[in-house]
This record gives sequence, structure tokens and C-alpha cells, in this order.
Amino acid sequence: MAVQDFLIASLVLSCLAASSYGTSFSSLPATLIVSASTKQGQVLKAGEDKITVTWSLNTSLQNGTDSAYKTVKLKLCYAPVSQKDRGWRKTEDDLEKDKTCQHKIVAQPYSPSNNNFTWTVQKDVPTATYFVRAYVHNSADEEVAYGQTTDVHKTTNLFKIQAISGRHVSLDIASVCFSAFSIVSLFGFFYLEKRKSKSSQQN
Ligand SMILES: *[C@@H]1O[C@H](CO)[C@@H](O)[C@H](O)[C@H]1NC(C)=O
Ligand SMILES: *[C@@H]1O[C@H](CO)[C@@H](O)[C@H](O)[C@H]1NC(C)=O
Ligand SMILES: *[C@@H]1O[C@H](CO)[C@@H](O)[C@H](O)[C@H]1NC(C)=O
Repeated sequence: MAVQDFLIASLVLSCLAASSYGTSFSSLPATLIVSASTKQGQVLKAGEDKITVTWSLNTSLQNGTDSAYKTVKLKLCYAPVSQKDRGWRKTEDDLEKDKTCQHKIVAQPYSPSNNNFTWTVQKDVPTATYFVRAYVHNSADEEVAYGQTTDVHKTTNLFKIQAISGRHVSLDIASVCFSAFSIVSLFGFFYLEKRKSKSSQQN
């Protein structure tokens, strides 16, 4: 193998390797103090209730800690009780693979203080127990720090979200069935009309 080929091959391999691994969560410092308007155990209704999230830099850190901070992305994350036996919500240290925080709340430019955002729980959020985590990204969009509304063990300040009730779902199903029925009957009507006109032409 020529030296150039070898170089190209290793370049491609290292690019592949670089793209398939994300930042490890355990390497991130918890420098943001994040709190939510929710009370421990509170139940919020999806599509109706609101959460206000407030965040700021921990002021007892050294000056310059936040010099590379560019954006803050708030996410809704599953508490361990709602991850049990659900591989699709599993926590992985590699943030590319982590499925703890699947619902984006908002992304905002970083500022060390006076940050707050009020979010209406989206209708597609499933029933589960949650907390809020804020990821800090640098200008290369890499995670560099975080903060969350719960403790490291994810047991305090958790809240529940109740998905859209069964009544709404059955209404949705009923309307889908009804539209399908209308389309079928429309086609049926055209078919019958055609046959009728054909047979009248033949007579
Ligand atoms: C802020 O940072 C200091 C120093 O690292 C730490 O001792 C303290 O617990 C932090 N405060 C909060 C609320 O996380
Ligand atoms: C951090 O910055 C503030 C204001 O810019 C200054 O008053 C303080 O002395 C600085 N602290 C350190 C440890 O450099
Ligand atoms: C909430 O955010 C607004 C700007 O969006 C800011 O002016 C205000 O001071 C913030 N309030 C708190 C309590 O942080």
C-alpha cells in the first residue's frame, strides 16, 4: 500500500471514529444552577400546563469558567423511574447515544444570569416522570458544561407529565376512521355513477 493510500485510509477511519463518539456526560462540569417552577411530584398536563425554567452560572466559580460558553439548550429528561425496562430511554455516558433527554425545550444564547424561559408542555410528550437539564455548548456546538433541576442521583425535584387523555385519542381515531369512511364512500359513489351512465349508454 502506498503511503498516500495509507494516510487517506487512516484519515477516513479517524473521521468515522470522530463522528461516532460524542462527548461523555461524566466529563462535563455542573456549572449552571437550574431550577424549575414545578414542585416535587407535581403533575402537569401535556398541551396545557407550563414550566418556567431559570438558570444562571454558579457565582462561586473562578472568573473565566464560562469564557467558551455560547449557547444553552434546555431539555426535558426522563427520571430513572421512567427509564426502567425501557431501552429506548436508556442513559449512556456517550451523549451521542444517550436517550435520557429526548425533548427539546429551547436553545438560547448563553448569559451568566437573569435567564428564564416559560414552556408549555408539548402535546407529544408521553406520560412519565421528568427533570430539566441545561446543556452548555461552545461555538463548535460541543457540550462543555451542564446544570439540572435534580441532584446527581436524579431523585429530587422530579415532576410528572400526564399525556393527552384517552378521550382525545379516541376522538382522533374516530375522526380518522370517519375521513377514511368518507373517502371510501366517495369512490363508491363515483363507481356506481359510472356504472349507471355506462349501462344507460348501452341501453
Ligand atoms: C457552586 O460551586 C461551588 C464551588 O465549586 C460548590 O461548592 C457549590 O456547591 C456550587 N453551588 C451549587 C448550588 O451547585
Ligand atoms: C472576578 O471578577 C470580578 C469582576 O470582574 C472581580 O471583582 C474579582 O476580583 C475577580 N475574581 C478573581 C478571583 O479573579
Ligand atoms: C427573566 O428573563 C428576562 C429576559 O428574558 C429578564 O429580563 C428577567 O430579569 C428574568 N427574570 C429572572 C427572575 O431571572
